[in-house]
Formats: sequence, structure tokens, C-alpha cells
Amino acid sequence: MSVKELKRELLRIAKIKSAISLLQWDLATYIPPNGIEWRAEVLGELSEYVFSLLTSERLGELIYEAQEEAENEEDIALVRLTKKEYEKHKKIPRDLFIEFQKKRAIAEKLWEEARKKDDFSILQESLSNIVKIIIEIADSIGYEENRYDALLDEHEPGLKTSKLKEICYYMKENLLILLGEIEPKHLKLKRLSEICDGEFPLDKQKEFCLKLINTLGFDPSSGRLDTSAHPFTELIGLKDVRITTRYDERDFSQAMFAALHECGHALYDLGIPERLFGLPTGDGASSGFHESQARFWENFIGRSSHFLIFIKPILDEYFPQLKKIGLEELWQAFNIVKRSYIRVSSDEVTYNLHIMLRFELEEALVNGNLSVHDLPQAWGEKMEEYLGIKARDFRSGVLQDIHWASGLFGYFPSYMLGNIYAGQIYFKLKKDVGNLEEIVSKGEFNLISNWLKEKIYSFGKLYEPLELVKRISGEELSPKYLIEYLRDKFLRGES
Ligand code: CO
Repeated sequence: MSVKELKRELLRIAKIKSAISLLQWDLATYIPPNGIEWRAEVLGELSEYVFSLLTSERLGELIYEAQEEAENEEDIALVRLTKKEYEKHKKIPRDLFIEFQKKRAIAEKLWEEARKKDDFSILQESLSNIVKIIIEIADSIGYEENRYDALLDEHEPGLKTSKLKEICYYMKENLLILLGEIEPKHLKLKRLSEICDGEFPLDKQKEFCLKLINTLGFDPSSGRLDTSAHPFTELIGLKDVRITTRYDERDFSQAMFAALHECGHALYDLGIPERLFGLPTGDGASSGFHESQARFWENFIGRSSHFLIFIKPILDEYFPQLKKIGLEELWQAFNIVKRSYIRVSSDEVTYNLHIMLRFELEEALVNGNLSVHDLPQAWGEKMEEYLGIKARDFRSGVLQDIHWASGLFGYFPSYMLGNIYAGQIYFKLKKDVGNLEEIVSKGEFNLISNWLKEKIYSFGKLYEPLELVKRISGEELSPKYLIEYLRDKFLRGES
């Protein structure tokens, strides 16, 4: 009965994590400003408690007993994953974990201030402390080739830094050629705010976004759509996933694409079989795989001309000023490829360059090949190397993302890997369904969701991402599909 007992213990921990998720969601959406400080303390206390449960003698014993007994594939995977997590947590000294939580709370605050004042020196010392702790954590966990492997494995289990570097090499070479070919043709293209006057009322935008995600298969009885400064998805509990978007009165597409992105995350979360919920096997295959599902709906579907055919009559109904704008013009406004400073608002081609820049810098920081003191200068050099533009200030440069201040090292590659997985998945989907363009222009999204469910969602975290991508596509992970998709879309006029 010990597999059963192990599951019971894991579900107990999952319930506490559910409470944490709800507190975090509230912190990012509705909390009154004066409540933030106490909330941060509550969250710190609870995460310490969860850490103690995850490293308890009892859990160790349950894993040991379940190991003897697990027979079917799901239970074997459950024990393997739980054991891996348990052993990893056990290696991190408790004091170090607590110190990390405290230091990152400080660094996040200083990051906000540094960004506001556009002054990197405000964050420098605190960020150095974070890097120091991250190195200690990575060394406690252990690695074979590269210290960064210990951090990368948390987000992309099974992927090694050496393999990631190979992927980046291929991506860089191909993306720079692509960018050189596409950009001159895009110089004259106009953004939505330039071709469309007037405001898009926020209540109309919200109604539209809700309708859109419902059309994609987001069940309003199992989730909510709210507003936050940085859109996110938070899985609160069984059949309860919260997504957010942000609104711009001058440009409805900001809210639309963010809603599509987060809806992709939510569909993945809700599509994982109920029997796996709350267990380590009941998660997405990796951070990158999760991101692939978000990017798939946001870009591969949402920014395609066929999706616009479907959505245009609905858009015209909600926002009558769009009636006079043609499909081609609207498609162009949503798909301008241009070198820019900010990652989150960059296009499908340059986005990956933004990620590679960050990956190279954080790998150097973690391996002691770059100091935090020299980080802004290194950022500037990489910006020129990858994007061919000079850094102009800290705010739109090294201070634009909160990740490093939050101690999130090893995560950035997941964004790029998400695009790569999505590219490979997209080609297989097209092959399997035959007439994807027609399906999308008719809005028959359940045909796509069912395919994704069968090929991806139904497996939860049973397989590591490299194994899953092989099972889906019949091939090893390859960035060539993403490049091919971008080439088709921007140079051959397909998609
Ligand atoms: Co995402």
C-alpha cells in the first residue's frame, strides 16, 4: 500500500502549495498596497514549511517503500520524480534555503527601485549576493560538466548546457541571416496605433478576451481572467487556473496576445489527467514545454493570417473602427520584425536573440566568468553582437527583467526552447490534421486541442522533455523546424 501512502503524503503537500498559489495570485492582482509586506512574510513562512515537508524523514521512508512496490509506468515515473526532487532538496542546506528566500525578497525590492531610478548600482551588491547563493545551491546539488547544468535541470530536466549551446549556435547563425533578410522589408510597416485611430474601451477589450479564450476551449467554470501588470498563469488547484492579461486603450492586441499566451498555459494545466493532479507527474513536462503551449496559441495560431480570417468579423463587432482595416494590413501590424530593446514586446524572430544574450550572461555569472560589477558592460556588448543596437539605459537593458533579482537562474532558456518545441509540434500537427489552415480559419479549435491533449497534455510529466518531443514528432529535438516556420511565414508568405 505504500504507493498509495506516498500519493497521500504528496497530495497533503500539494494542498499547502495550493494555498500558497492563491496567496501569490492575490498578491499579483488584488492585494491593497499596505498588505504586501505582511503577505511576503506569510509566503516566506509557508514556503519554509513546504521545504521542511519536502525534506522530511517520513517522505524519504515513503519513497523508499514505494520504490519496492511501484509496478505500472505511472507509478514508476512518480517514484522516480519524487525521489529526484527529494534528493535534490535534501542536498540544499536548510539555512541556505532560508537565506536565499530572504535575500531575493530584498533584491526584488531593490530591483524595482533601481529600475525606477535607472541606476544599476542600487542593485549591484544585492545581486552579487544572489549570485553567490545560487552558486552555493548549484554546488550543493552537484553537476558533472557545467555548474549551470544543476540549475538548467530544474526547468528542463535532462537537457545539458553543452547541448543547449549547440542549439544556440545553430539558432544564432540562422536567425541573424533571417533578420537581415526580413527587416528591410518591414521598415515601412505600420503598427496598429498608426493605422487605427480612437480608443479601444477597456470593458469591451475584456469582454472580447473572454470570448476569445472561451472559443479556444478555456472553461470559465474552471478558471478566471483578471488584470495584472505582468500577465501570468497560476494553477491554484484542481480545475482552478487563473490567468491575467493587461490592457492598453490605444492597442487592443496587447491584451489579446497576452490572453492567448496565458490561455495556452491554462489549457495545458487543465488538460493534464485528473488522476495525476497534485503529484509530481501531474505537471507540464518542463518549463519550456509549458512555454511551447503558450507560444503555440499566441504566435503559431494567433498571429497567423488564417486566425485573422476567423477573428476579424468578431473584432469588427467589438471595435467598429477596425472595419476599414484590411486583413493584410492587420496581419502586418501584428507581425513587424524589428530589432528592439525589450524582450517581452519583441517579435517572433528577435525574441530568441534576446534569450540567447541572457543565457550567455547568466551562464558566465554562475560559472564565475563574469562579475555582477561588469554585467552592464557585458550586456551592452552582447546587445550589439546579437541585436546590433547600442544599449541606451539600464531600464531598457540589464534592468528590464526581474528574473535575476528573483534568483531565477536557468529559466531564460525555457522561453527559447518553448519556441523550438512549438515549431516541431506545429509541423507534426500540420502533417497529422492535413488542413490546419482551414481548421483555424473556421475556428474549429477543438480539433487542435484534442490533438494537443492526446500528444502532450495526457502525459503530464511522465517523460522528460527530450523524450516527449521525440514521442510526439518521431525525431530528436531540432531547432530547424522553428527556423523553417519563420522562413515560411516571413519570407515565403505562408502562415
Ligand atoms: Co509564458
